[in-house]
Amino acid sequence: MTAPLLQVEHLTASFRRGGPPVVKGISFAIAPGEAVGFVGESGSGKSVTARAILRLAPEGSAIAWGGRVVFAGQDLLALRESAMGAIRGRRIAMVFQDPMSSLNPVLSVGAQIDDMLRRHMGLSRRAARARTIELLGQVGIPQPAQRADDHPHQFSGGQRQRVMIAMAVSCQPDLLIADEPTTALDVTVQLQILRLLLRLKRELGMALMLITHDFGVIAGMVERVHVMNGGEIVEEGQTDALFAAPRHPYTRALLAAVPRLGP
Ligand SMILES: Nc1ncnc2c1ncn2[C@@H]1O[C@H](COP(=O)(O)OP(=O)(O)OP(=O)(O)O)[C@@H](O)[C@H]1O
Ligand SMILES: [Mg+2]
Repeated sequence: MTAPLLQVEHLTASFRRGGPPVVKGISFAIAPGEAVGFVGESGSGKSVTARAILRLAPEGSAIAWGGRVVFAGQDLLALRESAMGAIRGRRIAMVFQDPMSSLNPVLSVGAQIDDMLRRHMGLSRRAARARTIELLGQVGIPQPAQRADDHPHQFSGGQRQRVMIAMAVSCQPDLLIADEPTTALDVTVQLQILRLLLRLKRELGMALMLITHDFGVIAGMVERVHVMNGGEIVEEGQTDALFAAPRHPYTRALLAAVPRLGP
């Protein structure tokens, strides 16, 4: 077995020091290039777990983390903020549910991707723009050279999510965390975005942590699934095996709630 890319050990999180934990000592690992899923109902701790990896508290909140988040041999929870800044966006990138909250409304999308490339990859202005246009094309934005100058509100919901994905993969991260990347989109666009994520994962060889409350989304997308409930991982396994024979009653209940679309 290859050394894991990410090893989370006994992770805890609470919204104030001494407050009740919302993540209760969970452990898991992600191998290089592996796609893993996290499913669980609303409030089960999926987003807080994802945010722990990047050490990002939700806007306006403070989180006390505990345990270890070992990425490429370093415990991220113990790093100085300056060192963390070199990892965030560069080695580990995240796509959020709502792209409007993570895109800057007053800058063109091209300027925002250029900025990532110049800051993290040291590209010149000209090289960054060429790469930005290439990335926008890769995620399926038509006429990328023109669209790069448009602002976020000039894109459709699905296109904005594509722009977010272009930005997230721009620095070729080792790990992409996608937290409910498609819940705001209609079903056909959801499928397109998920296929795009999978294609980029394959092409770039990055690991993918896909978070959703929808078991239907996970099937066929990821090799392994973790089921979260009440801040704990209650079941973990290969996706097919877990679908075929869920052991935990909570997993069975979640699976029973999945609408069947096909075989
Ligand atoms: N900013 C916050 N302040 C206080 N508590 C919070 C905050 N954000 C989340 N929580 C609490 O932390 C717990 C885990 O929340 P989290 O956002 O990780 O759930 P989730 O599994 O991502 O749910 P969803 O599917 O709705 O996104 C919940 O009990 C929630 O009430
Ligand atoms: Mg969430």
